[in-house]
Amino acid sequence: MFNTRRRIKELLISDNVNFQTTVMGWVRTFRNNQFIALNDGSTNNNLQVVVELGSLEEATLKRITTGACIKAVGEIIPSLGKGQKVEMKATSIEILGDSDAEKFPLQPKKHSLEFLREIAHLRFRTNTFGAVFRVRHALAFAIHEFFNKKGFVYLHTPIVTASDAEGAGEMFRVTTLPLDGTAPKNDDGSINFKEDFFGRSTNLTVSGQLEGELAAMAFSDIYTFGPTFRAENSNTTRHLAEFWMIEPEMAFYDLEDNMNLAEAFIKHIIKYAMDNNREDLEFLAQRLEEEEKQKPQNERSEMGLMEKLEFVVNNDFERLTYTEAIDILKESNHNKKKKFQYPIEKWGTDLQSEHERYLVEKHFKKPVILTNYPKEIKAFYMRQNDDGTTVAAMDILAPGIGEIVGGSQREERLEKLTQRMEEMHIPTEELDWYLDTRRFGACPHAGFGLGFERIVQFVTGMGNIRDVIPFPRYPKSASF
Ligand code: 4AD
Ligand code: MG
Repeated sequence: MFNTRRRIKELLISDNVNFQTTVMGWVRTFRNNQFIALNDGSTNNNLQVVVELGSLEEATLKRITTGACIKAVGEIIPSLGKGQKVEMKATSIEILGDSDAEKFPLQPKKHSLEFLREIAHLRFRTNTFGAVFRVRHALAFAIHEFFNKKGFVYLHTPIVTASDAEGAGEMFRVTTLPLDGTAPKNDDGSINFKEDFFGRSTNLTVSGQLEGELAAMAFSDIYTFGPTFRAENSNTTRHLAEFWMIEPEMAFYDLEDNMNLAEAFIKHIIKYAMDNNREDLEFLAQRLEEEEKQKPQNERSEMGLMEKLEFVVNNDFERLTYTEAIDILKESNHNKKKKFQYPIEKWGTDLQSEHERYLVEKHFKKPVILTNYPKEIKAFYMRQNDDGTTVAAMDILAPGIGEIVGGSQREERLEKLTQRMEEMHIPTEELDWYLDTRRFGACPHAGFGLGFERIVQFVTGMGNIRDVIPFPRYPKSASF
C-alpha cells in the first residue's frame, strides 16, 4: 500500500506531537537547504518539513524545488519557528515528481489573475485558487445537504435535448453530421436532421427546468444541479458559456413560497461556508481588501467580505415589484443626471445590470428580490398575473453581482400556457410532453435557478466569473 500519508490540515490543527508519520505534497518553497514549505491542497497553510543538515545527498537536495512533489517521513514535533504550532523533522525525503525550477511557471511571488487564467491547469496550486475551489466544493456540498434534509429528490436532467427551455435561442448545436457541405439535405435545401444521430435537431441544454417540472409533478419537490450551456456572446465578468445551475422545482408552491425557499437556501449555503471554510474565506477577504485598496475611494465596497456575508445571512432580503423598482430607478438622481448607460424612461424596459446593481448597492444596500415583471421580458412558462401584463416572476439580485437567481411560479393552466407559447412562437408540438403535465394532474408549482458560479463569486469575493470555475468556457476560449 502506497498511501499511508496524513493530510497536512489535520496535522496542523491537531495538538498531537512526537509521533512518526508520512506526508506527501508539493513544494511551495525550500529555504537554506533546510526548510521545505509543503502543501497538499487540504489547506493553504503549509507544513514546515525540516531537513537535517547533512542528512540528504546533494543530488536529492537539488531536486527539492518549487513545484516538485515529495514524500516526507518523519516526526511531528512542536515548532520552534513562529507561524506554526508543529513541524516535521524529516528522517527521509523521496522525490515523487521533479519540477524544473527554471520552467515551472508558478514562482513563489504574486501572479496576476489574468496570468493565472492562462495556466488554469496549474493555478490550483496557488493560495487564491486553493481557497476558491475548496469554498466551491463546500457550497456544492451544502446545496445537496440543504435539499436532502428537506426531502427533495436530486434529479439528473439531460444534457443533450431537442428543446429550448428558455425560448431564447441561445443553444449550442449537437450533431454528428459532416460540416463540409455534404450533410443530407431536404428538398428546400435545409439540413435533414432526420439523418442526424438522434434523428432530429439537438442541442446542449440551457436549463433542466422543463424536465424538472415533469418530475415535480410526481415527487412534489426535486432539484437539479448540473452543467448548462448558453451560446450568448457575452464577454462579461458574470457570464460563462458553460455554467452550473441548481434548479429546484416544487409542487404546491406559489411565488411567495418560492421566494421564501430561495432566500433560506442562499442563507444556508453561505452560512455553511462561513462555518466550515472560515480560514479560506478569511484568506479571500484579505485578498479582496488588498485588491480594493487599488481602487479609488468612491468605488470601494463599504463592507469587507466576512462582514458582507454575515450581513446577508442575518438580514431579510428586500422584496419589491418590478413596477416599484422602475419608479425608484426613474426617480433616482442617477437617472436624472443621465448616469445610466441605458436611461430608465418607461415601464416595460428590461433591467440592465447597472440598474440591478444600483438598486442593490446604492439604494437598498442589501440583496433584493424583484417580482412580477412585464410578461414581454420573461419566459413563456411563467404564470400570468390577473392584470394581464405581468407574470409571477422573481429575480434575486446580489451586491457586486446583480442577478444570481431567476425563477417564477409556473403557468399551470393549459389554455393560458399554450396561448402564451403561440404568442411567443414557441413550438407547442415539440413541447407536447411538457404540456402533458398540464393535462394530467396539473397543480400550482414554482421553481428557480441559482447560477452556481455567481454564488461562488459572491461568497469568495472574486471579481471575475472565470476565476471561480476550474476551466472556464467563454467566447473564443475553450482551453484545457
Ligand atoms: O434566469 P435564467 O436564465 O433562468 C433559468 O434558466 C430558469 N430555467 C431557472 C428556473 O426557473 N428553473 O438563469 C438562472 C440563473 C441566473 O439567475 C444566473 O445566476 C445564472 O443562472 N446564469 C448564468 N451564469 C453564468 N453565465 C451565464 N451565461 C448565465 N446565464 C444565467
Ligand atoms: Mg434570468
